[in-house]
Amino acid sequence: MGLLTGDVLVSLALAAAIFFLLVDLMHRCPRWAARYPPGPMSMPGLGNLLQVDFQDVPWCFAQLRRRFGDVYSLQLGRTGEDPGGGLGPQKRSLPDPHPVSARPFSPSALLNKAVGNVIASLTYGRRFEYDDQSFLRLMELVMEALKEDSGLLREVLNAVPVLLRIPGLAGKVFSAQKAFMALLDELVTEHRMTRDPAQPPRDLTDAFLAEVEKAKGNPNSSFTDENLRLVVSDLFSAGMVTTSTTLAWGLLLMILHPDVQCRVQQEIDKVIGKVRRPEMGDQAHMPFTTAVIHEVQRFADIVPLGLPHMTCRDIEVQGFLIPKGTTLFTNLSSVLKDEAVWEKPFRFHPEHFLDAQGRFVKPEAFMPFSAGRRMCLGEPLARMELFLFFTSLLQRFSFSVPPGHPRPSDHGVCNFLVTPSPYQLCAVPR
Ligand code: HEM
Repeated sequence: MGLLTGDVLVSLALAAAIFFLLVDLMHRCPRWAARYPPGPMSMPGLGNLLQVDFQDVPWCFAQLRRRFGDVYSLQLGRTGEDPGGGLGPQKRSLPDPHPVSARPFSPSALLNKAVGNVIASLTYGRRFEYDDQSFLRLMELVMEALKEDSGLLREVLNAVPVLLRIPGLAGKVFSAQKAFMALLDELVTEHRMTRDPAQPPRDLTDAFLAEVEKAKGNPNSSFTDENLRLVVSDLFSAGMVTTSTTLAWGLLLMILHPDVQCRVQQEIDKVIGKVRRPEMGDQAHMPFTTAVIHEVQRFADIVPLGLPHMTCRDIEVQGFLIPKGTTLFTNLSSVLKDEAVWEKPFRFHPEHFLDAQGRFVKPEAFMPFSAGRRMCLGEPLARMELFLFFTSLLQRFSFSVPPGHPRPSDHGVCNFLVTPSPYQLCAVPR
């Protein structure tokens, strides 16, 4: 240790700095290629990390789009370049009926439980009571796990994955995800013990386990225990909060636009009546309600940047060359709020989805589920859930801003998903 004198230390620091700059340079090289998408100047090591406002990424991407055009690039740490971009114009079970009084409450937790039970029916083969402790724990972990998936720390770890080798760090930063996975292990173990291969599968877990058994000895099969827990986890994380958040936006927009709520209820009364439960077949006869649900999704814009994907080969987009291994974000917001397509892009305006005769129309730019081969696989289920929950709720209740409360904001809070700012409402049985 005595050898580490001042001079040696300075030389070591210099060598480390030069090495670091060379590595950084290597990572920047692709940015200098001809036809690489333009982007803001980046800093050594950090890239553009400090220039992205992780509190409001969609807003930040909208500014970049204004400056650099539909396809632009960012360097987020060490993972390579991230061209974001505008897609461009071309391209049942009901929530607990309590509280039914005019007592103000926040609908979010109830909506989560209602939609969570749809996924639970698929994966656990049953629904849970709303006060069931294991269900409450499941809901809590799904929400916590989602929070762990956004923010600056998450981006830094994504950009410099070697940090995850620090003992105990991953377990600490992703503790909810770890606990959630442990819960799913219990589900698989319990299903494995109680499954009767002679009987038809009770749910997706049984069906998957049967495939795992068939695939035993085949190293290329994707039917493995590990994939089963990932599939179930994906269904909860991708399928629960997306739908319940959209419904929370739906109720918020109904209390902010009572005239629209009233027209939806009139259509429900006319087509379904007050007693029979809504069915998917009703949708074809309810253009206004269908337009309202689509407009809720367009306005709420809950997954503004889609999911990131990595290019598996060099590709060309709008004349720009994007190398293999680049992470791409599709800026869904740029289409859902495109000023060239929508009459009032930043207002809630169900007429966006109605023609002059009041028939439902769906402009091509409506893509809250993204587009292409990797678009949301849950869209058909989500469409059903949104229609059935929304119409069932409005069939039975009228929703309003609680008396004396200020009018809630229709500006969202952006984590990974854009959720409504916390609000309360009153639900009065009709
Ligand atoms: C209103 C509700 C929903 C919205 C707005 C929504 C939106 C999206 C979006 C934008 C993507 C990214 C697509 C892409 O990568 O380009 C996605 C992916 C996905 N969604 Fe949904 N989703 C919803 C409901 C659901 C439901 C109910 C399920 C499952 C039951 C589901 C399962 C998934 C899965 C598994 C993926 C990943 C697909 C992949 O990696 O290829 N989603 N969703």
